[in-house]
Amino acid sequence: MRHFLFLLATAREAGADGNTERLARAAAATLPPGTVQTWLRLADFRFEPFVDQRHTVGTYPPPTGDLARLLEATLACTDLVLVSPVYWYSFPAALKAYLDQWSAWLRVPGLNFRQVMGAKRLHLIVTGGDRAKAQPMIDSARLCAEFFPMPFAGVLFGQGGAPGAIEQDAAALAAAATYLTESPEAAA
Ligand SMILES: Cc1cc2nc3c(=O)[nH]c(=O)nc-3n(C[C@H](O)[C@H](O)[C@H](O)COP(=O)(O)O)c2cc1C
Repeated sequence: MRHFLFLLATAREAGADGNTERLARAAAATLPPGTVQTWLRLADFRFEPFVDQRHTVGTYPPPTGDLARLLEATLACTDLVLVSPVYWYSFPAALKAYLDQWSAWLRVPGLNFRQVMGAKRLHLIVTGGDRAKAQPMIDSARLCAEFFPMPFAGVLFGQGGAPGAIEQDAAALAAAATYLTESPEAAA
């Protein structure tokens, strides 16, 4: 059974009805009945920044607390959906902090994080002002997927701005109807 984990990276307050989440909800609405969905807001998780001890200790203990919850959710999904606004042409800090933890999880003995991630599909749902200027962020996600390697479903991009702006982007909402179900290997 497919299990989609939607990781919300916006820094808006809880309940702010952001554009990227709206676009993701439109995409998720087309998933077949029985598809498991987990929605997590990265801003709700508290954890220390990643410490690079790759070339000192070399390994990391299994995470605890909120990080353990994030890892558990990551491991449990078949499809990881990064739901992220563009911040300064890049990932918001909360998403980057989560991705940096992957470097620790790759070194938790017995976790086999690289192999486990290679069996999942990575999706990227983005809103921002300018699709062309979001390319660095889209490339980052694609390259992260290639690292494992894990299949990358390409990007679903919508025109964002103030809450509700995405409703004016008919093309993005139309694309949302098939993005998660077809997941073509779109050119990013
Ligand atoms: C800190 C910050 C940086 C941003 N940087 C960019 C940017 O580099 N390019 C862009 O097109 N939009 C940028 N935006 C605008 C957001 O990408 C846009 O409003 C987006 O739709 C917000 O998504 P949300 O409603 O899901 O939070 C930025 C917004 C913030 C708060």
